[in-house]
Parts: sequence; C-alpha cells; structure tokens
Amino acid sequence: MGLHYWHQSMETGLPTIDDYHRKLAEYLSDLENAMADDNRPFIGAMILEIIEHLEATFPYEEEVMREFDYPMVEDHIRVHESFINRLRTYSERHSRGEDISRKLTYDIKIWLTNHIQLQDGNYAKFISDKKRGKGPLGWVRRLLGAT
Ligand SMILES: [Fe+2]
Ligand SMILES: [Fe+2]
Repeated sequence: MGLHYWHQSMETGLPTIDDYHRKLAEYLSDLENAMADDNRPFIGAMILEIIEHLEATFPYEEEVMREFDYPMVEDHIRVHESFINRLRTYSERHSRGEDISRKLTYDIKIWLTNHIQLQDGNYAKFISDKKRGKGPLGWVRRLLGAT
C-alpha cells in the first residue's frame, strides 16, 4: 500500500472522505513508481483512473458540506471542478506525447496539502463544531437539546 504521502494531519475525521483521500495518496505513489519505470501507458491509464476517482468522490464531499450548510460550499465546488479540468488537460497533453508526469505529481502533492489538509480541513472543522453545537446558533441547538 503506497501511503507514503499520507499524513495524519490530512484526516478530516469523516471516515468515507478520509478513505477517498487516502486512495488519492496511494495513486500518487503508484504514479511515481510508473514514472520511475518510465511506463507511459500506465501513467495515461492512471490519470484517467484518478479523474474517475475524483468524479465519484467529489459529489459525496459536496453533499456532506450541503447537509451541514457549510457557507463556502459553492467556492469549494469550483475548486473541485477546476482541479478535474486541470487533470483532463494533463490527460490530453499526455495523449499528445507530452511528458506531464512531473507536473501532475506536483499538483497532486499540492492538492494533498493545500486542498485536503486546509480546505477540506476547514469544512471538517465546521462540521465537527456544528455537531458539538459550537457552530453558528450553537447555543440555540444546545438549549433545544438538539446536539
Ligand atoms: Fe476532498
Ligand atoms: Fe474538497
């Protein structure tokens, strides 16, 4: 299992989402192995698999944010969309014979630290505060015994 790039600080505490994120960290290790072997066909297939993985997992994350009325949800969705578009562009460039592997792995590393650790971390904190009645109107929820 290639969890070389996974760090505990990337955990949101939401098990399904953490599984999705760990899978992405595994893909990153697989990509680096394929780069070391100069396995172009495998790299091409990996990019498509990563896009598929993200297309399957982003909607879940977005639904969770909506469920808890996370105020930044629309901005967050736009960030997801632009990342997928970026990966699609890499896929096209790869198909045209360009070597994009280094840029691609760099982008995924940045995604793990900037998006998953910080931006996903933000909504995860918002949700856990809300669950504990510490979010906006938390005192009302506590008063009503809703937390
Ligand atoms: Fe995420
Ligand atoms: Fe996200």
